[in-house]
Amino acid sequence: MDLTSANAYIESFAAVLGKTAPEWEGRGKLKCGVDLGTANICIAVLDENDKPVSGEIFGAQVVRDGLVYDYSGSVAIVRKLKARIEERLGRRLETAAAAIPPGTVGRDAECVANVVRAADFDVTAVVDEPTAAARALGAKEGAVVDIGGGTTGISILRNGKVAAVHDEPTGGTHMTLVVAGHYGMSFDEAERYKVDPANAREVFPLVKPVAEKMATIVRRFLENWSVETIYAAGGACAFDGFEKIIERECGIPTVKPAHSLLVTPLGIAMFG
Ligand SMILES: Nc1ncnc2c1ncn2[C@@H]1O[C@H](COP(=O)(O)OP(=O)(O)OP(=O)(O)O)[C@@H](O)[C@H]1O
Ligand SMILES: [Mg+2]
Repeated sequence: MDLTSANAYIESFAAVLGKTAPEWEGRGKLKCGVDLGTANICIAVLDENDKPVSGEIFGAQVVRDGLVYDYSGSVAIVRKLKARIEERLGRRLETAAAAIPPGTVGRDAECVANVVRAADFDVTAVVDEPTAAARALGAKEGAVVDIGGGTTGISILRNGKVAAVHDEPTGGTHMTLVVAGHYGMSFDEAERYKVDPANAREVFPLVKPVAEKMATIVRRFLENWSVETIYAAGGACAFDGFEKIIERECGIPTVKPAHSLLVTPLGIAMFG
């Protein structure tokens, strides 16, 4: 994987969030990815060559630990974000891929697809989240760790194929709870305080034990695998130096791409 080109690709998606790519000619098929996350719902739209065309992201608590818990609320948000993009592009969005935390099966997995269908998308694929992240990064070997609001997901890649996946319910939400407890803030206040870059130096030492717990989850799962590189994605990894904690705990070089929060939604759309 070439981190520089992966970063440029992710940056090109960040640049079209809430906008339309200026070079988009308005023609050709569009591929969408819908990421129903614990903290954020995101739609990414790509052209047939996987170039980002547009996108929307919205903070919402309609999913818990990666599983849909407010079905009608989720549908309403996906519909709203889809309508915004359609209006902007002057085009209907037709197909989309969705994603689930690794190991999600049966009705829980079906529910994610149903939300996307209920928002009038044809669902082309339901992939697991770290696998989507790996696709956006162009990673073919190693381990991709996706730490979002609710869960820590890990996917091991061999020759571009997923060899194993794992998921545990520890995510950025747990960091927010620590911040809320420390400062006596409400959850929402603590969330805003935590993600404000101005507070990162003060907040990171507080939530470091949670980051170490996440790193331990990764190390335990990787014990039985030979992995040369770990890729860190997901919003909770956004803290400066988080990747160093994983690297130290696992003894494996760990790289974090730009906008870790956007890697998974972008990768999901590549399956759309
Ligand atoms: N700059 C930041 N610093 C620290 N944490 C951040 C930052 N930006 C976002 N986060 C955290 O990242 C989490 C959201 O990440 P992401 O959007 O990847 O999760 P999600 O996909 O909604 O959740 P999941 O995949 O677990 O269901 C939230 O807990 C949020 O507080
Ligand atoms: Mg996620």
